Amino acid sequence: MDFSLRPFHPDDAESIALHANEFDIARFTSDAFPHPYELSDAVSFIRGTLPLQPQRIFAIVIDDKAVGGIGIHPQEGVARLNAEIGYWLGKAYWGQGIMTRAIPLVVDYAFQNFELNRVYAKVFGNNGASQRVLEKCGFVLEARIRDGCIKMNELQDELIYAIRRLPQSMEETKG
Ligand SMILES: CC(C)(COP(=O)(O)OP(=O)(O)OC[C@H]1O[C@@H](n2cnc3c(N)ncnc32)[C@H](O)[C@@H]1OP(=O)(O)O)[C@@H](O)C(=O)NCCC(=O)NCCS
Repeated sequence: MDFSLRPFHPDDAESIALHANEFDIARFTSDAFPHPYELSDAVSFIRGTLPLQPQRIFAIVIDDKAVGGIGIHPQEGVARLNAEIGYWLGKAYWGQGIMTRAIPLVVDYAFQNFELNRVYAKVFGNNGASQRVLEKCGFVLEARIRDGCIKMNELQDELIYAIRRLPQSMEETKG
């Protein structure tokens, strides 16, 4: 299935609210992802992305509709060479390899447009699909923090996956 990535547009709000309003998305995302997901949530989320320069949060577009999102979040201070990646896709489109193709595009974009050494993702222990996608995209499991999160009133392990700008072999040889 074909998809494209582009910055969000205010006109995407209705489609985003439709596809994001899904328990099986909310249960695997941070508490910043509302559930239920109202039109007003989509409007304010999209409004927040519009001024970002360079752009770093993208709509996943299928058949001219925004049906998911993927973005990177550069960190600050001592962690400033790291960025977190986050993503979700409308349930109707799961299991067709879309996120496995989208993540490498955004990782390449991140390394080209931001001063970063590492892009990481935080995944709940019960989110097998996201773990599998990250592994398919070359991310390495760096840590499992036992009971590191509580989501929907259940403790979850927090898994940290990461990919580096330089291959591991070059990192080992650099000063
Ligand atoms: C995680 C998510 C983005 C995956 O998107 P997708 O486009 O369906 O992913 P892909 O089709 O590229 O790959 C999914 C892979 O996970 C596998 N998978 C699906 N459910 C699984 C499960 N419960 N356990 C293990 N693997 C699973 C699929 O078989 C596939 O692997 P394969 O190609 O080896 O068969 C999507 O399920 C989603 O939006 N989930 C809710 C939000 C979320 O979890 N966001 C990430 C938070 S860290």
